[in-house]
Amino acid sequence: MEHAPRGQWKSKVGFIMAASGSAIGLGNIVFFSANAYRFGAGAFYIPYLIALFVMGVPVMMLELGLGHRARRGFPEAMYGVAGIKGEWVGWFCLLNAAVITMYYITILGGVLGMWIGAFGSLWQGHAVPAFGLAEGTLSNSMSYFFNMISRYDTIAYVVIVWFLNGLIVWWGTKSIEKSVKVFVPLMWIFMIVLIVRGLTLPHGTNGLMLLFTPDFEVMKNPVVWQGAFSQIFFTLSLGFGIMATYASYLPKDSDQTSNAFTISFLNCSFEYIAGLAIFSLLFCFAVVPNASTLSMTFFVIPEGLGAFPVGAQLFGILFYTLLLTAGLTSSVSLVEALGAGVIDKFGVGRRPTVIAICLLGLVGSTFFALPKVIDGSLANDGTLGLTLLDLFDHWAFSYGLLLCGLLECIFVGWILGADKLRESINTTSRIQLNRSFDVLIRFVIPAVILTILGFSVWSEVNSGGPYGWNFEFGAHPNLHIVVLAVWIIFTACGAMLLTAAGVYQRKRKRERGSLLDGVEG
Ligand code: ALA
Repeated sequence: MEHAPRGQWKSKVGFIMAASGSAIGLGNIVFFSANAYRFGAGAFYIPYLIALFVMGVPVMMLELGLGHRARRGFPEAMYGVAGIKGEWVGWFCLLNAAVITMYYITILGGVLGMWIGAFGSLWQGHAVPAFGLAEGTLSNSMSYFFNMISRYDTIAYVVIVWFLNGLIVWWGTKSIEKSVKVFVPLMWIFMIVLIVRGLTLPHGTNGLMLLFTPDFEVMKNPVVWQGAFSQIFFTLSLGFGIMATYASYLPKDSDQTSNAFTISFLNCSFEYIAGLAIFSLLFCFAVVPNASTLSMTFFVIPEGLGAFPVGAQLFGILFYTLLLTAGLTSSVSLVEALGAGVIDKFGVGRRPTVIAICLLGLVGSTFFALPKVIDGSLANDGTLGLTLLDLFDHWAFSYGLLLCGLLECIFVGWILGADKLRESINTTSRIQLNRSFDVLIRFVIPAVILTILGFSVWSEVNSGGPYGWNFEFGAHPNLHIVVLAVWIIFTACGAMLLTAAGVYQRKRKRERGSLLDGVEG
């Protein structure tokens, strides 16, 4: 079968904006601050920077190099590395990314709801009947949030966010490039406004001091290292097949080493200033960001903003516009990576692929937005949707992403040969990679990821996992096990099915080829 013509970025700036827009997302603005606070603020930067240089930048080079070399979607790029086993890894990563995309978009739906609320009702007290709470029981932002999630509104917001994603990937690189040229500069401007405001507030520098005061004691805790390495993977959009897909749309002579440095630098600087902005805002009003990442997004930060002496509402709108723009440029890249995998592999048209992905994705995102209250005490965020979100996130984020990184490094390092990929990257790069790249890909990164995964399994077994392995939900004695089974079936078995479809397609192509040869002969 003839390959359909593929998209190409119009300019290098367009590519850098799209790739850094993918990397800069909710992870940079809220997840980072929540993690940094949880893991000792100032001390978190040391494991974070080590994770960036030991794993983040090399894996970024690997993914960019792979995509650029193959100039195809991720499963085919991986097929070029290790045949059908490689193709399975490619699909596994994309399907794991699909799970993350579904709940990422549900969170963005919630952000859209908060954005609408920021124009008025977010700042007023509300009773929360679904949880049996009277007005004034919770802070204004908290009561607004719990009201929103206990109704069907979030599902409507999720539909809108999926529609926007579909629209942006509809014309491929063309429409993605146009959108990031507007969204990415806006994101930087909004973030700079927030940081200037934060630092000029009375005591605004207190939060900053906290970020710069290292607490070396916490570095002895393996959980801090696990947090830093997972954060680097998520924030740089690694393990999703995104960077390989975006690099496959680059011209043949583009320089992947400098691209990897530029994207990582832009992403981590944004993350750093976001941390400064959020810590200074929150500390001015003694709002301690000692909260889960979702709580940070939905009520801790608005609580801080609501305490502003002037312009609380304006800054609320600005903050949620920032989250929406940053989140959209990331979710679009997730949808595009999956779409490109299907289009390139099966030769399906872009439009039917985009429609199918958006509809199926919407079904998944709707599950994460289900408003049924299953925990009146507000533990586990209270609704069925958010409980499912937490449980899927546990597998797809804490295990899935690192597993994808591990498989990529092992397959490239040991089957293709890290030196082969390095040579291909060096052919078009100004900064030449040396053998240390091979050592990192073959030995260091797999060893680090295996240690983290091993530690995660060990703590899982010892602590009973999130909510314990006997978490009860209605007639289901163990929702945790159900979620784990669904995640495995969707990712591992789904990847097997898609790989088998690819094998069948290749066989058909060969048969047709020999038939044609016979006719011509
Ligand atoms: N890298 C994206 C983020 O940080 C997924 O949100």
